[in-house]
Amino acid sequence: MQGDASKGSGLIRGRFDEGLDEVMEQINASIGFDRKMAAQDIKGSLAHVAMLCEQDIISQADATAIKDGLEVIRAEIATGAFAYSVELEDIHMNIESRLRELIGATAGRLHTARSRNDQVATSFRLWVRDAHDRTSQLILQLVESLAAQAGQHAETIMPGFTHMQSAQPISFGHHLMAYVEMFGRDHGRFRDSRERMNESPLGAAALAGTSFPIDRGRTAELLGFARPMRNSLDAVSDRDFAIEYLSSASLCMTHLSRLAEEIVLWMSPQFGFIELSDAWTTGSSIMPQKRNPDAAELVRGKTGRVHGALIGLLTVMKALPLTFSKDMQEDKETTFDAVETLELCLKAMIGMMGDMKPRVSEMRAAAGTAHATATDLADWLTRELGMPFREAHHITGRLVRLADERKSSLDELSLQEMQEVDPRITADVFTVLGVEDSVTSRRSVGGTSPERVAQEVEEWRSRLDRLRAK
Ligand code: ARG
Repeated sequence: MQGDASKGSGLIRGRFDEGLDEVMEQINASIGFDRKMAAQDIKGSLAHVAMLCEQDIISQADATAIKDGLEVIRAEIATGAFAYSVELEDIHMNIESRLRELIGATAGRLHTARSRNDQVATSFRLWVRDAHDRTSQLILQLVESLAAQAGQHAETIMPGFTHMQSAQPISFGHHLMAYVEMFGRDHGRFRDSRERMNESPLGAAALAGTSFPIDRGRTAELLGFARPMRNSLDAVSDRDFAIEYLSSASLCMTHLSRLAEEIVLWMSPQFGFIELSDAWTTGSSIMPQKRNPDAAELVRGKTGRVHGALIGLLTVMKALPLTFSKDMQEDKETTFDAVETLELCLKAMIGMMGDMKPRVSEMRAAAGTAHATATDLADWLTRELGMPFREAHHITGRLVRLADERKSSLDELSLQEMQEVDPRITADVFTVLGVEDSVTSRRSVGGTSPERVAQEVEEWRSRLDRLRAK
């Protein structure tokens, strides 16, 4: 079935006699999702119309009428009174059409020296820039809640793992501060790409620029962009700014997912390292004893959506010749979803990190199993007896086997038993076999000693103040 060419997208169908096929209308429309950019579209139009007036391209009276009309539309959208139409294809045409209803033919002057190509590039850039600012704030909040837990638990001891096997005892605070480093780098990646993307495409027009005497520097300034983009073809045809956001978001989700996975493990009765309150857990419909870390599982599970958005947009863009092609309309839906997903997951993780109660004695007990101080023993043999480390490693291995045979821990072996393996060993060895001794002794830069961890927490607190002040 075909529509009437004078209706709907008739605003731009002067040369057509007939309307769109229904399926054509459906595949062509983006209003279902790009309505999220209404505020940014209006902001871009207000800057454009102000500049057109300052440059004497349109009259003051027309500019005022357009500005007032746009303000009415802004209010209609805010209150939910605005009627979106699929026939009008996208948010840009919906707003322009409503402006025509409100102020008549003068509305048509708004599109002077502008195309939907630079218009959509501007709206979407503004939207992604807003997303950057929210995301960066959330990451700093997460860093703050991780650092707060780390500060309280610099001296809480847990097993550190490699290959998911107990490796060496570490400070729980140190473990959390590892995530602070990761999220700190994520924050840096978002800030770097925000700076790179903060240039204005507006005024590139369809692709080649315009013959009107516009002032692109002025619209850039009004929109808070650092400068106009230098090449009109590039301005309307790249979406690298969204790809960069999605790339940083994907990495951030990977970090969130790893932390989420640890929460799931730590919450299991087999580990029993942490507790989450009722506010952050769910029950089972059949097994009354259960307390499930669903939020952590969902953070882990939602990671795929964000990674998918990145691969999706890279794929949309990969073979597009310059400049605009309608394929690029596919940039928004998944980007919006990825931004919302990342923000939700960051909020969930901030909540869980504030809520989490480490079970200090359970962690400490686990840290004392599985000969976690074997490396300390090998280090002692090397340092105190002057053995090459490889030989010390071998002798320690024999002592571990002996302890296993006796079903004891290393520090429960007698000096005599140790001396049967190597007669040079003295009673001094027992000073390094304790779990606390082991953790305290690792004072090297970046190491796990509680003293170092406390310093790192302090360092990050002042770094947070500096980042927030920017
Ligand atoms: N809705 C379109 C988009 O999201 C707007 C740009 C349309 N431009 C065009 N020349 N058809 O990309």
